[in-house]
Amino acid sequence: MKKPIKTGVIALIPTLLICGIALAQSATVNTLRGVDVNDPAILDDVHRNVEGRMQRNYRQQPPLIPHKIEQYQIDLRTNQCLSCHDWTKAGERNAPTLSMTHYLDRDGNELDQIAGTRYFCNQCHVPQADAPALVENEFQPSANN
Ligand code: HEC
Ligand code: HEC
Repeated sequence: MKKPIKTGVIALIPTLLICGIALAQSATVNTLRGVDVNDPAILDDVHRNVEGRMQRNYRQQPPLIPHKIEQYQIDLRTNQCLSCHDWTKAGERNAPTLSMTHYLDRDGNELDQIAGTRYFCNQCHVPQADAPALVENEFQPSANN
């Protein structure tokens, strides 16, 4: 009883293989770019940095960054933002000094160096760009806060 079943299954293999190849060839292959290999891929507009300072949308908003930041490394050892914005450098670099809140630890003690809670600048500050809103937004700042 066992032998005929085995031969039957083995006989099926070539048929299945041929069907598989035919299916694979009929499926349309899409490029990752979404256009034909010979066609130019039109990219979305690149939203350039906006010079000058943009208005803050509410009083506590971390100011937007009015310059490019791609080149400035921030990791455990280096923070290049500090080479211009730390109080020890800002004068000679002609950059705005970090406000005092950046030198307060979480218990409110005043520090000489940037507080750990403010070390990773781009947690709060992002470069400004004139870009359309990704989602609709009816935000109104509170008048009292
Ligand atoms: C080479 C010096 C330099 C470096 C490095 C630098 N900045 Fe600046 N930054 C400036 C100067 C100069 C201004 C003021 C520009 C102006 O007023 O148009 C400024 C403005 C800003 C402001 C706006 C402050 C305000 O009150 O509106 C923020 C926020 C800021 N920088 C954050 C950063 C962050 C975050 C980094 C690192 C990713 C960084 N900067 C690196 C020089 C620098
Ligand atoms: C936890 C959020 C947070 C982080 C992290 C942070 N900031 Fe700020 N920053 C703010 C807020 C909020 C303000 C505006 C109110 C204030 O001064 O505290 C501000 C203000 C500033 C200003 C304007 C100061 C002034 O007096 O006009 C500069 C410049 C600035 N930040 C740079 C930086 C840089 C550079 C880093 C990283 C070393 C950094 N910030 C990290 C939230 C943050």
